[in-house]
Amino acid sequence: MTIIASKCPDYKVTVVDISEERINAWNSDKLPIFEPGLLERVLKARGKNLFFSTEIDRCIDEADIIFVSVNTPTKMFGEGAGKAVDLQFIEQTARRIKENAKSNKIVVEKSTIPVRAAETLAKILHSGNNSVQFEILSNPEFMAEGTGVRDMEAPDRILIGSMDTPSGLAARNILMDVYLHWVPKERLITTNLWSSELSKLVSNAFLAQRISSINTIASICEVTGADVTEVSRAVGMDSRIGSKFLNAGPGFGGSCFRKDILNLVYLCEYYQLNEIAAFWEQVVSLNDYQMERFVKRILQAMFNTLVGKKLAIFGFAFKPDTGDTRDAPAIYICKRLLEEKAFLNITDPHALNNARKDLQDIEEGVDFIEDPYQAVEGAHGIALITEWASYKKLDYQKIFDKMEKPAFIFDGRNHLDHKALYEIGFNVYPIGKPALKHL
Ligand SMILES: NC(=O)c1ccc[n+]([C@@H]2O[C@H](COP(=O)([O-])OP(=O)(O)OC[C@H]3O[C@@H](n4cnc5c(N)ncnc54)[C@H](O)[C@@H]3O)[C@@H](O)[C@H]2O)c1
Repeated sequence: MTIIASKCPDYKVTVVDISEERINAWNSDKLPIFEPGLLERVLKARGKNLFFSTEIDRCIDEADIIFVSVNTPTKMFGEGAGKAVDLQFIEQTARRIKENAKSNKIVVEKSTIPVRAAETLAKILHSGNNSVQFEILSNPEFMAEGTGVRDMEAPDRILIGSMDTPSGLAARNILMDVYLHWVPKERLITTNLWSSELSKLVSNAFLAQRISSINTIASICEVTGADVTEVSRAVGMDSRIGSKFLNAGPGFGGSCFRKDILNLVYLCEYYQLNEIAAFWEQVVSLNDYQMERFVKRILQAMFNTLVGKKLAIFGFAFKPDTGDTRDAPAIYICKRLLEEKAFLNITDPHALNNARKDLQDIEEGVDFIEDPYQAVEGAHGIALITEWASYKKLDYQKIFDKMEKPAFIFDGRNHLDHKALYEIGFNVYPIGKPALKHL
């Protein structure tokens, strides 16, 4: 909404939320999320044509277009638990819109939701009130955290799904006008509602599938002496395949991949497409396997016991340039290392507050330390889980000198210079390539 406001000075954009705490933060200089370039843009537009408010009812009535962007987590209870989407926040929003709208509205699904959710939305919005017309559009969000500003300012594509009716197409044109303020026409794609809803799930499923695929190859590399970086370079240079999302790692994370694939799996099961459900579910199972494999590699390398050993964890965010730790592999990996009775010093440039919340049930064995040099003091090993650019620039000789010997480094992202680390004296364990050991 910040980018829309900054690109469309002739529109007034108001962001509303039931969380007063979040709205207060959006109205302050300390935004509730870390996203490069966002603060400057918020400061420029806020108070001019961008507003943050908890007055939801008034703002619903005043709006012509309402973007529904509430959370759609995996349902954790009852029918579909662990796979289906929990649609309670979508439904609450729809009911509130219905109660407060006194004029016609365009309601845009921005949240990621199951296919045909627009039908449910329309049923709720149109029940018991015929004086106000609602037109539902699907406009899924494809931006990625960490590059959100860039992705919004220069999107690969903007997808708008609508009903193929005169009023549906008219609403679609109104939304297209918003994006046409800065997005080239050829990057606007229009489809029917269900294709648009499904495309978002499929995009995330394909991206996650590539990560799980290359992670399976990493396992093969480790036992055969092949090098996963070399393999992914050779494979990715094929223009039919492409090079992106072919980096092996400790597993994917983030609030969307797992949830959206499981949503797709549930959809397949609902329509009794069981083989297809199993195919996509395997992408998630392999991710779980990869995280566990990373833990096992640490355990085996460190003489099959971590009891009383100190490990410095470099990075907790699910990826660099974000403070977001939702479903981050670091959560699983740290919990497993703690189960093995290791002591953890966790460091991260932007995610330590969230890391504290994620591990709040753990009573002992974990410390959160901003300075990586302090985090490695007396450590037996380092596990790099998030590839923050700053980790490349650290003085690893200084780090080595502060550590217990033999010193281990497990580079979960193949982010560091392994040869240089080995020459300093580290035992280096990359992903998908042979370890460099002095032992
Ligand atoms: N985070 C991303 O990068 C990203 C990218 C693409 C799509 N999405 C999708 O966007 C949606 C939101 O994701 P998010 O990461 O922003 O979630 P989030 O949990 O960070 O934010 C959702 C917000 O909605 C608010 N909310 C809940 N119910 C409400 C209601 N009834 N009225 C008003 N506000 C309400 C919550 O207080 C919260 O602030 C999800 O469907 C997600 O799949 C997210």
